[in-house]
Amino acid sequence: MSPAEFDSFAKSYEQDLAKSLAVTGETREFYAQQRIDWTAECLSRLKHRVRRILDYGCGDGANVPMLASKFEAEQVIGVDVSSASIAVARQSHASPACSFFCLEEFAPKGELDLVFTNGVFHHIPLSERRACLLAIRQSLRPGAVFAFWENNPWNPGTRYVMSQCAFDENAITINPPKARRILSEAGFKIVRTDSLFYFPRQLGFLRPMERWLRGLPLGGQYLVLCQNSPE
Ligand SMILES: C[S@@+](CC[C@H](N)C(=O)[O-])C[C@H]1O[C@@H](n2cnc3c(N)ncnc32)[C@H](O)[C@@H]1O
Repeated sequence: MSPAEFDSFAKSYEQDLAKSLAVTGETREFYAQQRIDWTAECLSRLKHRVRRILDYGCGDGANVPMLASKFEAEQVIGVDVSSASIAVARQSHASPACSFFCLEEFAPKGELDLVFTNGVFHHIPLSERRACLLAIRQSLRPGAVFAFWENNPWNPGTRYVMSQCAFDENAITINPPKARRILSEAGFKIVRTDSLFYFPRQLGFLRPMERWLRGLPLGGQYLVLCQNSPE
């Protein structure tokens, strides 16, 4: 099997990411926690109960224990195409509630309540995206939720951060309407789209305005929340 692109970044991922985020004045943990908190808030508005979660493209696994803790989940699985990243994730984050698998070891069974993905699809070749979305849909029970988080190419700060990031060299970004289109075409029902992360830490005093800006497609990252609509 040929090595995955992120096999060569598995050990340096944390450092590479910290370097590219430094300009924002925030840490990786800050962004991860904000994404998870906002996802949880959206799901509580939907009154959607979450027990079993998949983090699709989990990388070094750092989101997995955070998801387990926020949702008090019974089980969180992380999968990734990079076996070297999965090895790092197992070493750092495996626990009775958190487990990690290479993509080829993962068989979708239609029993998950939530699939979460962050910053993954811009690394998937265009020709493979639809198959990945269909596999995600198959892993969800009917009516369950997919939280699709992506970097927003319409935000100049995001474009700058990605241009500085060692592992984003081959990224093919996805703007919010395009994301909604590929998700709808894969059979998901779009529930809402929100964009977050307008202001770096240096402009933190402006962050209270973000709640009014969420509906604009211009934040640093965006969430398309969708459901596995029954056929
Ligand atoms: C920028 S990293 C994001 C890691 C993690 N989601 C996070 O938030 O830190 C992108 C990850 O997507 C994974 N990836 C790329 N193509 C994939 C695919 N087809 N299926 C699953 N994971 C994939 C890469 O191996 C890499 O670990």
